[in-house]
Amino acid sequence: MNQHTRLDTTPIPFIDVAAQRRRLGTAVDDAIARVLAHCQFVMGPEVQALEKDLAAFCGARHAISCASGTDALLLVLMARGVGRGDAVFCPAFTFCATAEVVALLGATPVFVDIEEATFNLDVASLKRAIPVAKQKGLTAKAVIPVDLFGLPADHDAVAAVAKAEGLFVLDDAAQGFGATYKGRKLGTLAPATATSFFPAKPLGCFGDGGAVMTDDDSLAEILRSLRVHGQGTDRYDNVRIGTTGRLDTMQAAVLIEKLKIFEDEIAARNEAARRYNEALADVATVPQLPEGYTSVWAQYTIRLQPGRRDQLAAALKAQGIPTAIYYPRPLHKLAAYTGFPLSEGGVPVSEKLADEVISLPMHAYFDAPTQDRIIGAVKRSLAG
Ligand SMILES: Cc1ncc(COP(=O)(O)O)c(C=O)c1O
Repeated sequence: MNQHTRLDTTPIPFIDVAAQRRRLGTAVDDAIARVLAHCQFVMGPEVQALEKDLAAFCGARHAISCASGTDALLLVLMARGVGRGDAVFCPAFTFCATAEVVALLGATPVFVDIEEATFNLDVASLKRAIPVAKQKGLTAKAVIPVDLFGLPADHDAVAAVAKAEGLFVLDDAAQGFGATYKGRKLGTLAPATATSFFPAKPLGCFGDGGAVMTDDDSLAEILRSLRVHGQGTDRYDNVRIGTTGRLDTMQAAVLIEKLKIFEDEIAARNEAARRYNEALADVATVPQLPEGYTSVWAQYTIRLQPGRRDQLAAALKAQGIPTAIYYPRPLHKLAAYTGFPLSEGGVPVSEKLADEVISLPMHAYFDAPTQDRIIGAVKRSLAG
């Protein structure tokens, strides 16, 4: 860099929600105004319309919306009767909600390691975890593969182990909804798939929201009951213990409009990831898509030698460029989760990657100069 060149330090957003608002124009505002006019704030007509759209989008028979991604996971485990004495296998490297719902129901999360190349569940580690659970007297009940950072887990490999061991598979697609695995969209790759519409997710609403996708008619019916206090024929006929787990009509209205541009946004995210990969492969370990997979790039996460990321984060921050660490600690290192069992051999890859990962700004609305500014700053810092 020429010493007379002034670096641009204008703040760059990590996710450009404002650019998306501009792209949507008045569509979302109009959709919210329609809800304000009809006043059916809970289970209004937009909720059913969204569920139809979500099911059609991913090719699932049912989409059942709910209050958050955490509720989506929880409701499925409740529907399956998961509870005390049951083991549910979860990756150690994920957001806490994946294991939180298991523990909330009194069941035991058993932590499984991940693959270094994909950040997703390592099936060999899953196989080693099953005897650990059994030795502790637990019933091996379910597995929750996570499609971390937007990349699908190896669903065929997970399904094979699940079939052999009688495990129910709940796909945690909170970060991956919209991605594909061997030509099929997430939402159809497991008996149940949970997703989140938290605003920072690839398909986010303007608050909290989530959904479960399934082809199973009886599971869908139970989920629809559980999200309204276990209702039966009507809301004062409570046939099971449930909760308030509904998606607000207002959020459904927002999501209907956002879903219309989601495929376009996924394409733009992929282009941004391609540009990052091309530019950064020589200075960092960049994410790779296995053959037959697509990602929605919930995060663009690179890996650096341990110790280098703090320096990079500080250099970028000084130039107005935010970064994030997903996740600084694997779950078994968090106070609330230290007591739960690990797969045989531990989870060394999760521990290693937690020290190496750093995520760069990622969204569908980069202009080339903005992304080039980020790329230039990363390269200067890592080359220096
Ligand atoms: C992998 C994963 N699972 C579950 C969740 C929970 O979703 P929510 O925040 O909507 O409850 C999240 C969201 O942060 C997530 O990233």
